[in-house]
Amino acid sequence: MSSKIIALASDHGGYELKTILKETLVSQGMSVLDLGTDGPQSVDYPDYADAMAAAIGDGRAEVGVLLCGTGIGISIAANRYPVLRAALVHDAFGARLARQHNDANVIVFGGRTTGVEVARDCLSVFLSTPFEGGRHAARVAKMGADRRGCSPVPQGK
Ligand code: RB5
Repeated sequence: MSSKIIALASDHGGYELKTILKETLVSQGMSVLDLGTDGPQSVDYPDYADAMAAAIGDGRAEVGVLLCGTGIGISIAANRYPVLRAALVHDAFGARLARQHNDANVIVFGGRTTGVEVARDCLSVFLSTPFEGGRHAARVAKMGADRRGCSPVPQGK
């Protein structure tokens, strides 16, 4: 499926599902890098988005799985980093399009909102689907550019 190193990170809300997904990946012969958290104790999800950005930014991993209770907080935190394109996913269709259209390099789950089998299915699709490129490449490139000078209101619309 994938020979890439897959980093996983979660807060306490995603810890249980992270543990299960890690075991699934290892049983499939994948290389994983577990960035924590390492137990159910309460921690702060932005710290784990930071760890993911560092791991992908310095090349220790090529793709990532992030989790918190809903997946929302850790998605917001992750997408503050230009090196991450994190997609909160609830079904295989979203997982596929996150790769084909958005070239997402991180899939995000809510440990309290997504069941194990759905998460496994999404992760499998995510890891095996290539980016389509083409018209999507320019759009993805725009997200990598510094947008801070842009008007919040799109011009010419
Ligand atoms: C932690 O209780 C919870 O807020 C966190 O896991 C996440 O759901 C935030 O978006």
